[in-house]
Amino acid sequence: MKAIVHHEYGSPDVLKLEEVQKPAPADNELLIKVFAVSLNRSDWEGLTGKPLYARIGGLIKPNDKIPGSDIAGIVEAVGKDVRQFKPGDEVFGLILNYGGGFAEYACKSERALALKPASMTFEEAAAIPQAAFIALQGIREKGQVQPGQKVLINGAGGGAGTFAIQLAKLAGAEVTGVDNTEKLELMKSLGADHVIDHTQQDFTKNGNQYDLILDVIAHRSVFAYARALKPNGTYFFVGGSVAILFQILFLGPLIRRITGKHIKLLAVQTDSKDLVYMTELIESGKVILVIDKRYSFSQAAEALRYLGEGHAKGKVVLTVEHALDW
Ligand SMILES: NC(=O)c1ccc[n+]([C@@H]2O[C@H](COP(=O)([O-])OP(=O)(O)OC[C@H]3O[C@@H](n4cnc5c(N)ncnc54)[C@H](OP(=O)(O)O)[C@@H]3O)[C@@H](O)[C@H]2O)c1
Repeated sequence: MKAIVHHEYGSPDVLKLEEVQKPAPADNELLIKVFAVSLNRSDWEGLTGKPLYARIGGLIKPNDKIPGSDIAGIVEAVGKDVRQFKPGDEVFGLILNYGGGFAEYACKSERALALKPASMTFEEAAAIPQAAFIALQGIREKGQVQPGQKVLINGAGGGAGTFAIQLAKLAGAEVTGVDNTEKLELMKSLGADHVIDHTQQDFTKNGNQYDLILDVIAHRSVFAYARALKPNGTYFFVGGSVAILFQILFLGPLIRRITGKHIKLLAVQTDSKDLVYMTELIESGKVILVIDKRYSFSQAAEALRYLGEGHAKGKVVLTVEHALDW
């Protein structure tokens, strides 16, 4: 089968379209013919090897050579222990090791997989998984946002952020979205009450305090985040610098003891029910799925460059064309 592969960390130039062995499903896995795969920042991180946590499993060279974790496609075969899906089912979900989706076929377990609604295209379904898990858990399940609370989402114009703005508004919160200049209008259009351009203003220095900060791209010190939280407020680190992650893991508990403010890592769980719930919100029109650009499979490098260079508003999706001349 064809796959987009990188044998070293680097820019999108290191990506190559190669012939690789078609995977075979283990007893608990499905073989999925992939029709669409969406891009996440984790793909960019895995490609460039930055931050350092992206090199877990391959310090010098990548172990997972095929990017892509959010896929949608048709089940071609199932292992003997698979119970919920059968060949021919249209499905979508997250590959749990965050790789392998930039390919004609991928194997994954039943976890974090759901039936694709007939109303959605493969591209739409592929745009949902990772971003939905982060947003649903950050805002609803672990964030437990309540009406009237002040919520700030840092990196709100990206995949997880565009869902998070809308979920926080649905919960009745007053929402501030932070992202770059290009994404201010998008954040407003999704319901953000306030927007901050991070190239112009540091949200931890403007004197405002929040009940919840969901940070998909953390680069400030743990003390700056504490300053921006209300007493008893919660800050969630989703992604960002490893140095900040260590500060949060080691100093977060201390800050909580002294100030009562909760500063912690959001360890995202992957449960199929979140996928079903998010598709229901999208189908009912309560949440808008923001797909900025669609690329063909062979344009994967260009698509990743678009995301990595900071232009992507919401999600970017690759369509995997089968039976075409490569
Ligand atoms: N904790 C967990 O369990 C878990 C699980 C899965 C994924 N993750 C992590 O979650 C993150 C995924 O986020 P995503 O896919 O939603 O990313 P994304 O789509 O790239 O969105 C991030 C947004 O932040 C913006 N941004 C960049 N620098 C910023 C700054 N200094 N201040 C404010 N905004 C800034 C980006 O804009 P530009 O386009 O200008 O860069 C982009 O719009 C990744 O870091 C991934 O590793 C964590």
